[in-house]
Amino acid sequence: MTYLVAANWKMNKTVGETLEYLEIFLPSVEDLTNIDIMIAPPFTALASASLKLEKSNVKLGAQNMHFAEKGAFTGEISPVMLTELDVNYVILGHSERRHIFGEKDKLINQKMISAVEHGIRPILCVGETLEERELGKTLNVVENQIRSGLAGIEKDLVYIDIAYEPVWAIGTGKTATPEQAQEVHRFIRSLINEISKGNDEKTRILYGGSVNETNARNLIKEDNIDGFLVGTASLDPKKFYKIVTEVMEV
Ligand code: PGA
Repeated sequence: MTYLVAANWKMNKTVGETLEYLEIFLPSVEDLTNIDIMIAPPFTALASASLKLEKSNVKLGAQNMHFAEKGAFTGEISPVMLTELDVNYVILGHSERRHIFGEKDKLINQKMISAVEHGIRPILCVGETLEERELGKTLNVVENQIRSGLAGIEKDLVYIDIAYEPVWAIGTGKTATPEQAQEVHRFIRSLINEISKGNDEKTRILYGGSVNETNARNLIKEDNIDGFLVGTASLDPKKFYKIVTEVMEV
């Protein structure tokens, strides 16, 4: 399995800042093979980033998507608009979409199905809140999010990646310990193996939540952690490059 290191820039970086970043980052990774690298800038920077990434080994991602191809959905972006820009990945069900913008499992599932249909590889994000963890509900919450996110596309797991991102670890500087992450990753692996009837060998289970250049090594050493979804630390091209190299060395 090829590991994936993905950058989720969230609502950060203008077009100009995106191009400046890529000027630094792309040469640093141009000789790297056997690793998948993805950057998800804001929608406004996708077109310019797409041109820059055309001849590179870095893939382009979107941070969200509507499930419909077109229509009266003010403010939304469709899968057709993304594939036109050679977007390869889309992050779906991110905890900020779930908790700040109220996205529910049903909607996330519709987006997952649409992404697979349009050949955009979705990264389904799942994870428990601090309260849910303290109540001992972590595995329950993660199982529900995965079962509903994958409803109807269980046989398509080869086209899908999953990111475990404990909500309490996102943007807080609090990372899950390698043991805490491993416990959930092991559970997810056996769950998707069951759901897909053994067709999950191409599905990567990423960890996300305050990953940085110093904690990446200890996390990636764990079995069942197949890469990272990185927010804050991915905004600095040198830090993101360092995380990529830590993953390569394992
Ligand atoms: P963080 O964000 O690395 O800043 O915690 C991760 C994410 O939300 O995907």
